[in-house]
Amino acid sequence: MTSKLSIPHSITQSPVAWAAGPKSSRLFQEEQEHIAPGLQSIALFSKIAIDHGCGAMLTDVDGREYIDFIAGIGVASLGHAHPRYVQALQEQVAKISVGSFTSEARLSWLKLLHSVTPGNLKRTQLYSSGAEAVESAIRLAKSHTGHFEVIGFWGGFHGKTGGVLGLLGDEFKKDLGPLMPGLYLAPYPNPYRCPLGTKQAHDCASHCLDFLRQLIRRSTTGRLAAIIAEPIQGTAGNVIPSPGFLKGLVQMAHEHGALFICDEMITGFGRTGKMFGCQHEEIVPDILTIGKGMACGFPVSGVITTSEIAQAKPWALPSGSSSSYGGNPLAAAACYAALQTLVEERLVEYSQELGTWMLGRLKEMQHRIPCIGDVRGRGLLMGVELVQDRETREPLPKNITRSLFEECLKRGLLSMCYSGPIRINPPLTITKSQAEEGLGKLEEALKAVSRA
Ligand SMILES: Cc1ncc(COP(=O)(O)O)c(C=O)c1O
Repeated sequence: MTSKLSIPHSITQSPVAWAAGPKSSRLFQEEQEHIAPGLQSIALFSKIAIDHGCGAMLTDVDGREYIDFIAGIGVASLGHAHPRYVQALQEQVAKISVGSFTSEARLSWLKLLHSVTPGNLKRTQLYSSGAEAVESAIRLAKSHTGHFEVIGFWGGFHGKTGGVLGLLGDEFKKDLGPLMPGLYLAPYPNPYRCPLGTKQAHDCASHCLDFLRQLIRRSTTGRLAAIIAEPIQGTAGNVIPSPGFLKGLVQMAHEHGALFICDEMITGFGRTGKMFGCQHEEIVPDILTIGKGMACGFPVSGVITTSEIAQAKPWALPSGSSSSYGGNPLAAAACYAALQTLVEERLVEYSQELGTWMLGRLKEMQHRIPCIGDVRGRGLLMGVELVQDRETREPLPKNITRSLFEECLKRGLLSMCYSGPIRINPPLTITKSQAEEGLGKLEEALKAVSRA
């Protein structure tokens, strides 16, 4: 493969022939009269109404089938309607679903969870959404350190609520100010697109760490409560940071009397081929935030920390770290069923094996398709950069990626390729033949939008 391959005129917007089926279209249009704008792009762009799912397959109300390369953005870890999960929720909802009292399901889950968490991370509190958990993690870091400043990263995503909006490393927050004071952003070492323009990928991490050191010195008041980072940036395009970066963050946080929060909302629970994404770099954060795949669709999230940090007040006072729905019996049953299944069906190992195989296939595809600039991944979390020119690395324009999305839909593949890098994160239960078929559809769709 030559990196000099230039394809300035070969990209074309295909005529596109995608349209949702008649039942989907009717439901979608009718719902649009009631639902507020701003739904996830995937739902708005596809205009499909899903009737049911089974494993890694989704079927819409017109009977059209799709291979699911999205899994609700890393949520459906066990796939759709896994029998063990369905049974556990049915049984629990018939018994009790509300309240913060101790439940057998919650205790069983916590014990199992703490048998797989790294280091001394053995204290967990539960919430409903990712942003809520991250906000709680920040409250905990403030409680523990007595400090109040927090640093996040360019390209980072931690939710959309007020306390974390300022940690979003892109333009999403435009026009939504003023942001919470005391939040700062530093560059994240994307080896393919180093934000500091470093040409050698291995230098990117050290340059970003140098920048961070300067930022702390020159921009903060020195009262740093936490540094927060995703071990792989999901929203930015499943970006794996250059080696050494996460270790450097832990060290720098501790040098300043701060905690390191690892936001594992997407990367947790086997998604990257290890139970947690931080384990690839053999670091143990002070606080881990979890959600999404941990309960396979039931809205539950959490904060895991050490027994010592968890004692920090006011976070640790009665009702200090709680919420209305967090860890209720139904949420706990969902968490327990999901983790038990993950462990017993060896899905973490499977994620590693199948992910390696899929990455290999994507790299082969890169030889055949000139607009694939970069392929990366860990486990079943992969990213594909689409470029106009491999030399300049200029991304494909949005109208082309929208066409690509529609070409995928037309072929029965749901894939996050409508803007920026393609994000591939199927259910951890996807079969090898479904994965192969899905990649075949993706290649056909890529060929349809680029005269490769
Ligand atoms: C790393 C990370 N943190 C936090 C969140 C926010 O989660 P939620 O949408 O449940 O608030 C997300 C959502 O995509 C995420 O990817």
